[in-house]
Amino acid sequence: MNVESARAGASASSAPVPGGRVPAVSNPDAYAEESSSPRALVKDLSFYYGANKALKQLNMPIADRRVTALIGPSGCGKSTFLRCFNRMHDLQPGSRYEGSILLQPENIDLVGREVDPIDVRMRIGMVFQKANPFPVSIAENVNYGLRLRGMRSRAQLSVAVEQALRGAALWDEVKDRLNSTAMALSGGQMQRLCIARALATNPEMILFDEPTSALDPIATAKIEELIAALREQVTVLIVTHNMQQVARISDYTAFMFLGELVEYAATATLFTNPSQKRTEDYITGRYG
Ligand SMILES: Nc1ncnc2c1ncn2[C@@H]1O[C@H](COP(=O)(O)OP(=O)(O)O)[C@@H](O)[C@H]1O
Ligand SMILES: [Mg+2]
Repeated sequence: MNVESARAGASASSAPVPGGRVPAVSNPDAYAEESSSPRALVKDLSFYYGANKALKQLNMPIADRRVTALIGPSGCGKSTFLRCFNRMHDLQPGSRYEGSILLQPENIDLVGREVDPIDVRMRIGMVFQKANPFPVSIAENVNYGLRLRGMRSRAQLSVAVEQALRGAALWDEVKDRLNSTAMALSGGQMQRLCIARALATNPEMILFDEPTSALDPIATAKIEELIAALREQVTVLIVTHNMQQVARISDYTAFMFLGELVEYAATATLFTNPSQKRTEDYITGRYG
């Protein structure tokens, strides 16, 4: 079965969650609507740093080829949640996952012990607040994941580099200096290079952790345009503190508070008609 027909099969099913249990979300209707085409299902996900329970039984869908925004005050667990998706916590001693993140349509549990974190990271890319290019050439930055995967052919690599840089809207600016150091790029260009690096392995999902908070408005606008374009081909999960950005680029929004998911809804609904007072207080700037 190919991916498309598997997806179609998944959406034909009336059970919103494998196992048929409807998770506790504040707006079950939004969930039911959305879950017709989820890329992943977060089920009773908890996460511990040692004894500190940083995520408390989260349940939400991640809509396929849509942008889902994560919002909430500092320290509420947004980065912790993102890092579960590509197993970034695995290196930290004492960290522990409970529950599951089921990648669809295969139903692979991303936080399951039997799943190899390296494989997960090939399928789920991540872009951080601070652009972190490697101190090598632009081309080698983009190539990195493909080399890890064993791609050796120069011709194949150069096609992949061009494709990823075009995908990250950076090709025209760097095509004449692919072999120059990435460290000479501007902040916004470095961030797009990191996006190209994430795109090169053809991931199905990209996680963005406050990708524009260190950028000026023009560089920010470019990243936002890029995310809007990426959304056609890849599922995006983004943390941002910028409410205008949430409204501009996201389809769905999840509001977190103290490690809990308070509300998940279509972005327009969450902003115009939040079902929880805590959501309203946050989006109207009463705290955070
Ligand atoms: N590496 C870590 N080790 C221990 N505790 C952490 C670590 N990273 C984050 N935390 C704690 O987990 C909670 C959530 O943090 P974080 O996910 O960074 O929040 P946010 O991204 O929403 O600001 C906070 O209480 C924070 O202190
Ligand atoms: Mg954070």
